[in-house]
Amino acid sequence: MNIHDDLEAWLAFRRSQGAWPPGFVPTMGGLHAGHRALVARSVAENPVTVVSLFLNPTQFDQASDLATYPADLEQDLANLRAWGVDHVLLPRREAIYADDYRYRVSERDLATRLEGAHRPGHFDGVLTVVMRLLNLVRARRAYFGEKDWQQLELVRGMVEAFFMDTEIVACSTVREASGLALSSRNARLDARERELAPALHRSLVESPDAATAAAALSGLGFDVDYVEDLGGRRLAAARLGATRLIDNVPLEAHDGH
Ligand code: PAF
Repeated sequence: MNIHDDLEAWLAFRRSQGAWPPGFVPTMGGLHAGHRALVARSVAENPVTVVSLFLNPTQFDQASDLATYPADLEQDLANLRAWGVDHVLLPRREAIYADDYRYRVSERDLATRLEGAHRPGHFDGVLTVVMRLLNLVRARRAYFGEKDWQQLELVRGMVEAFFMDTEIVACSTVREASGLALSSRNARLDARERELAPALHRSLVESPDAATAAAALSGLGFDVDYVEDLGGRRLAAARLGATRLIDNVPLEAHDGH
């Protein structure tokens, strides 16, 4: 596995490659079995797989969330090696944002709702870094999890709007047996919160409508940001203590009446 931390050298390397383009999995580190599923799919579908580890500061609206984001570089690299990744892109912040974030990508509709309404600037940060990473890697396919459904939709829309060549591949959310969606932020839950956390998914699936799901979650002690039906999915964000969890399910999955 090759680790690239110098973007100039990376670009020279990439331009020298004949048998390109690869599959690409962008990540912020803190890798778990959800990332493993994305990587496994890329490894199965492409001759070469590139993974980026870049904790993107521009998508964090809360400095404390960025500061406490769980990541262990040595563990992440050991995982990526074991998962069969060929190249890891490990850029420095100043190299990704050499323009000091003067240039950015914005979407003016979906990006203002749900996550966008609760996390100002979040999707500008996500779309801008994904655009930069896709241009650096020139992947044939890039893999995104459905857990971040709004992110996935916005990235798909950006790639279409800007005539970019990378195919965006959606991968199902990986869940614990309890139903809890895997997330790097789960590591921050204490024992009591961990027991409560699966109720987020359960309420989305079992409640007859979004308002009932929100009320059920509040009753259990979640601090609910939103539960809303949009684009054939039911989406939610809610806090347990200091940890904010998000999840979504296709509407046909809910069995309420
Ligand atoms: O989903 C994530 O981990 C991040 O939002 C992404 C796509 C790597 C961009 O920083």
